[in-house]
Amino acid sequence: MSVHPDPTSDAVTKRVRTRHFAQAKANGIKITGLTSYDTLTAQIFDEAGIDFLLVGDSAGNTVLGYDSTLPVTVDELIPLTRAVALSAKRAFVIADMPFGSYEEGAEHALRTAMRFMKETHAHAVKLEGGVRSADQIRRIVESGIPVMGHVGFTPQSEHGLGGHMIQGRGEAADAVLADAKAVEAAGAFAVVLEMIPAELAARITAELTIPTISVGAGAETDGQLLVWTDFAGMNTGRVPKFVKQYANLGAILSDAAKAFKADVESGTYPGPEHSYEDN
Ligand code: KIV
Repeated sequence: MSVHPDPTSDAVTKRVRTRHFAQAKANGIKITGLTSYDTLTAQIFDEAGIDFLLVGDSAGNTVLGYDSTLPVTVDELIPLTRAVALSAKRAFVIADMPFGSYEEGAEHALRTAMRFMKETHAHAVKLEGGVRSADQIRRIVESGIPVMGHVGFTPQSEHGLGGHMIQGRGEAADAVLADAKAVEAAGAFAVVLEMIPAELAARITAELTIPTISVGAGAETDGQLLVWTDFAGMNTGRVPKFVKQYANLGAILSDAAKAFKADVESGTYPGPEHSYEDN
């Protein structure tokens, strides 16, 4: 079963909305999300029925060539987000607010969220942090912009957290639960739980009324999100344990590039069938 509207129906495509996230949780229907940063993947994932597309600041690693999300700017994410939002007909498109674009306070966060909404056609924004970001989330939601929260491991704080580490183990569980509750109380429509123990994610999912979306937080959440380059085997670095690789596009592209090079060097490509005649 799928989050309404049915992606397989022939009816005029209707957009997934925040109410469909709420209905999915109420009805026990799993929500699916992938990151996307361009028109091609946005169209493919949208047509495949993925419920939401996150234009993540993971673009720092997957598109822009940085070694973390920290240098990513709003100006860099805006054209990527616009490409995705203009290409997806059904999926709900979420703009990720990068490091440095909301931390100074609620008005700062609202200005950034408004830029994303005005300049990209996205349907919501996401920002990291629980208790520490509650004022920002509340202000953005009050202005009519849906917000997805993000707690647990928050990549923009990787240096403060001491690296890519599982959060919420043992006594640290209560702080992650408090963060998730703060996000809910501030008015977010959903919350990403990243790299926390599955038991803690199940507890948070049971205690929250808004849907929880797992990124490495186990199966007992209301939905799952993956970075598309990880799930499709486009990653040249280490793939986290929680990622299931559904394709190996990296190897397919590498083989294609090698075959092209060999054909050109041997004179096999282009053949007559790839060449234009004079008349
Ligand atoms: O930027 C991103 O892709 C994200 C997800 C990993 C949650 O924030």
